[in-house]
Amino acid sequence: MSELTNEAALKDAGNDHLLMHASAYKALANDAGKRILVEGKGCIVKDIDGNEFIDALAGLWLVNVGHGRAEIGAAMARQSATLAYASSTQATTIPAIQLATHLAEITPGDLSTVFFCSGGSEAIESAIKIARQYHYHNGEPKRQKVIGRRGSYHGATYGAMSVSGTRPNSEPYHSPFMTGVLHASPPYCYRCDFRQTHPGCGVLCADQIEQMIQYENPQTIAAVVAEPISASNGIVVPPDDYWPRLREICDRHGVLLITDEVINGFGRTGKMFASEHWNLVGDIMTMAKGLSSGYVPIGGVICRPHVVEAFEGDNKLSHLLTYGGHAAACAAALANLEIIEGEGMVENAAKMGARLLDGLNGLRGHRTVGDVRGLGLLAGVELVKDKDTKEKFAVSDSAIVDLNKGLQDRGLLTRAANVISLSPPLCITEAEVDRIVEIIDDSLTEMEKGL
Ligand SMILES: Cc1ncc(COP(=O)(O)O)c(C=O)c1O
Repeated sequence: MSELTNEAALKDAGNDHLLMHASAYKALANDAGKRILVEGKGCIVKDIDGNEFIDALAGLWLVNVGHGRAEIGAAMARQSATLAYASSTQATTIPAIQLATHLAEITPGDLSTVFFCSGGSEAIESAIKIARQYHYHNGEPKRQKVIGRRGSYHGATYGAMSVSGTRPNSEPYHSPFMTGVLHASPPYCYRCDFRQTHPGCGVLCADQIEQMIQYENPQTIAAVVAEPISASNGIVVPPDDYWPRLREICDRHGVLLITDEVINGFGRTGKMFASEHWNLVGDIMTMAKGLSSGYVPIGGVICRPHVVEAFEGDNKLSHLLTYGGHAAACAAALANLEIIEGEGMVENAAKMGARLLDGLNGLRGHRTVGDVRGLGLLAGVELVKDKDTKEKFAVSDSAIVDLNKGLQDRGLLTRAANVISLSPPLCITEAEVDRIVEIIDDSLTEMEKGL
């Protein structure tokens, strides 16, 4: 095996041999935004050149407990030394049963039974397949179509990409998509598709989904898939009457509601699951990311009893994944949940989230800050060229390039495009929250000088 120890050799080898996700070949050399990270503690990560950053996106919206929690690694090591793996179809393991049982206890309502997989995209694929097969066994085999929402992101595999409302970005390369997918308007009040204002609008965006269901014929619709709060669409927190209405529409038409809590779950929004803000219970709920805080790849879907009961007797689930319920991954997730619950991280997310939102609201005086929104430690600052017209910046605009550089130079790792997205570890302190706001403030001031 090649000895790669020094920094220059590692960078060269990384360029030659690693194709980074959603990146150009040799991105490490050519894109100042890419780096080799070597260690982390809490909210802070350090790169190979010794630079320290606040990890304000918790990796990719997932390191909920923060970096450097050795006890998660220790739990994995113990399980790997005992039994790392059992066939996902012929056997299961003690940690898989313990984790599924605990998830049934902490997830909303009567969600009760878990199918494990390796990440968020697989969770969405699994949820769609379970929904379609559920209808088949209930004597409605024509219920195959799935309704997603524009701007939502549910993953990069084919089914997940197809139901995602970000698919225009992939269309030139990856179409044709999965058939039978429709996309509705999101509850994005700042840019309402119907040019309405809440509450006068009467949540037309939810009613539009009902119109789609009726137009297509309800007997052809398997499921609606949606994140309680859409991060990809710019941290879109829906108005309070949206979810009760959509839940009721799905129930009335026999359509399963798949709530995608891949980013929202495990304390991120100041509740264990974002659904709890609206007493929402999806028929199937997807999870990943915060389930292990990224210490190991694991995801899952949890179903309500009426869904899994369709799979009794001869009606076997026609779906399997080799790594589903991996014993060491389940042990890591259990250790992660023990930290989240034992250290009051959900409560801290609510408290620090309120402080973060307060601080960000203080930036509304900037000429480019069009909107500020969020819930818990999931927050966004929407940038506009003009507050009256709400004209958007293009990602390639020099102002956005400068802004990203300004944020990084000041020690903040996050994503800034039309929206500056924030989703730091839930262990964040007051001082770190204040520093995030200060860095954004300074970076916006500098960017605006160039406009
Ligand atoms: C809401 C949501 N669902 C699903 C996914 C896909 O998860 P993964 O990247 O683990 O496949 C993501 C990824 O960011 C997501 O944000």
